[in-house]
Amino acid sequence: MGNHYHHLTTYYFSGTGNARNVANWMCDKANNCGIQAESIDIGKSERRGIAPSDKDTLIAFVSPIHGFNYPVIMLRFIIHFPKGKNDVVLMNTRAGMLIGKWVTPGLTGIAFYLAALILWLKGYKIKGFLPVDLPSNWISVHPGLNQKTIEYLHQTNEIKVTRFAQTVLNGGRYYKCLRELIQDMFIAPVSLGYFFVGRFFFAKTYYASSKCDNCGVCIKGCPVKAIKTVGGRPFWTFDCESCMHCMSYCPQKAIETAHGSIVLAVSVVSLLISDKFFEYFNHYIFNASFPPIRFTIESALFIIFLGLWYGISHFMLRYKWYERLMVLTSLTSYKFWGRRYKSIRKY
Ligand SMILES: Cc1cc2nc3c(=O)[nH]c(=O)nc-3n(C[C@H](O)[C@H](O)[C@H](O)COP(=O)(O)O)c2cc1C
Repeated sequence: MGNHYHHLTTYYFSGTGNARNVANWMCDKANNCGIQAESIDIGKSERRGIAPSDKDTLIAFVSPIHGFNYPVIMLRFIIHFPKGKNDVVLMNTRAGMLIGKWVTPGLTGIAFYLAALILWLKGYKIKGFLPVDLPSNWISVHPGLNQKTIEYLHQTNEIKVTRFAQTVLNGGRYYKCLRELIQDMFIAPVSLGYFFVGRFFFAKTYYASSKCDNCGVCIKGCPVKAIKTVGGRPFWTFDCESCMHCMSYCPQKAIETAHGSIVLAVSVVSLLISDKFFEYFNHYIFNASFPPIRFTIESALFIIFLGLWYGISHFMLRYKWYERLMVLTSLTSYKFWGRRYKSIRKY
């Protein structure tokens, strides 16, 4: 491998360690061929006022995909990144699963295109894209993967990252994933839905059960400082990115996803925000029959309602019967579902 670059800087965000591993694999490959490399966790370091990089530096951004896009913390980081003319590679970690020996890939959505556009407007040259299908950490929506699958996905993906690193560190380009463009564009509306509504919804699905001993690990470890103590127990604010860090690293395994409560909340809100409601709304407030306007109003009301629901539920958790009911209706509290996910830490 020739030394096309003298330095590799990898900026990464990671909830449960997959993106951290990818960043470290990249640095490892760079070091192996005599290129100085550093990986910077943007969840733990200064995110504003980053100094421009030397011209011989290759810059890599690595982040999980959340709702078919980069999470807000990474998007904001890229938006505030200084202008420059360096070569850049964009990498993501997605929801890999295993069916037999077949790794089912995750979906990138608009993440690469949006980030590439912002960086290109700042003057950077985009030299490669790599989606990495590491184990899915989204244990709120599916049971946790088993250890064998987790190990297999790590092994196969490290090889994939090595190939990518060999190409881009040598000055080559790597655009293979652009063949996913059509499917990515197809799901673009869902990424917007997640950005404007979904992420706020998921932020209000977490609570701490009576197993919580207030050790503060979730509050200190939250990369976006979205967890506060309210009434003596952890409280998830709308800033939560649902990165799964808290759920996965809680030493007491006390953090759950409130499936039962959320199903009830969604049912109640869909009864309240009905056609009848809009008849009154259109009559007494203003005419919201144009579908995008109606959708915006519905979404805003939904989020406000959910915030109130969450506040009341948080208050009610002090009552033992309510806390038990919440736990019993949380799939994450059951053995068949409840494995927490942490990537394999080799470094
Ligand atoms: C809230 C949330 C949303 C997610 N959305 C997607 C998605 O749209 N597409 C996908 O492929 N994976 C998705 N995933 C899975 C993660 O991107 C994937 O597991 C990633 O490897 C986790 O990386 P990390 O360990 O660095 O946080 C999602 C996970 C979470 C928690």
